[in-house]
Amino acid sequence: MHEGERLLAIGVDVGGTGIKAALVDVKTGELAGERIRVLTPMPSKPGPVVASAGRVVGRLIRAANAAAAAAGQPAPRIQGIGVGFPAPVINGITTTAANVDPEWVGFEAQAAFTKAFKRRTWLVNDADAAGVAEMRFGAGYGKRGVVIVLTLGTGVGSGIFVDGRLVPNTELGHMEVNGKDAERRSSANARVRRGLSWKAWAEDLNDHLKAIDVLFSPSLIILGGGVSKKADRFLPFLTVAGRIVPAQLRNEAGIVGAAMVGLERETEMVREERALAERAVAKPEPESTTPPAETAEQAEASG
Ligand code: BGC
Repeated sequence: MHEGERLLAIGVDVGGTGIKAALVDVKTGELAGERIRVLTPMPSKPGPVVASAGRVVGRLIRAANAAAAAAGQPAPRIQGIGVGFPAPVINGITTTAANVDPEWVGFEAQAAFTKAFKRRTWLVNDADAAGVAEMRFGAGYGKRGVVIVLTLGTGVGSGIFVDGRLVPNTELGHMEVNGKDAERRSSANARVRRGLSWKAWAEDLNDHLKAIDVLFSPSLIILGGGVSKKADRFLPFLTVAGRIVPAQLRNEAGIVGAAMVGLERETEMVREERALAERAVAKPEPESTTPPAETAEQAEASG
């Protein structure tokens, strides 16, 4: 790679409401082309959601190639693709489905996206992805200690970082607060669904944040999701203030983080594959001239 060459990956952010994607310059955290957003198919069953994401990725690649051709440049080299999804992801399998169709529970989602995109794809929890981007390019940059990134959207997602390292798949949106699943009251959707004023909603959010503070004593809480654009409407009502800041990447953190994770995992995988291939070339299977050693059983049988 030449100095100054862009490092490009595709980030897809699948949400309970919309599917967003863009080509991302992973070195700068900036979008390297148009951002596409479509509504999440309803019901949000795996088949239609994966197919819709596949069409979005196809459009992105065509647009990027066309833009390069128009500028007289070669097609961009896309070095990874990551998808953020609103559920914990263990070994490529989505394990819950709070804001998507229950068919996602136990679904081999990473394999399904890989098939639809026709290239190896890496799946990550959406809030973990957003957190990774915020820690690298946003409000978490250089922050050590325990930093918690919360995304306030259709649900509430969390990414916990300890000295910059992610503890994956935490689900602080589903803590029980005042006898209820916390995100039922503190998500951005909850405010709209319940027709609450910013202040009334901030009180519920505050209860959630206080409970998190008691359990984790974070040095910083970063609030992301679409509502972070309107932080001035609710931040003044939060009493754990001082250690709470709005996200800086706003709603794009999910796309940028998914691209970063996609690139990182792809690079690791390519490195591993290369090392294996090199080892195989360096050490071809020896052609055996000696008969195989007796097994313990054979030895016993022959006395
Ligand atoms: C899901 C999380 C997700 C969050 C934000 C929650 O309901 O359980 O996995 O990160 O919503 O989308």
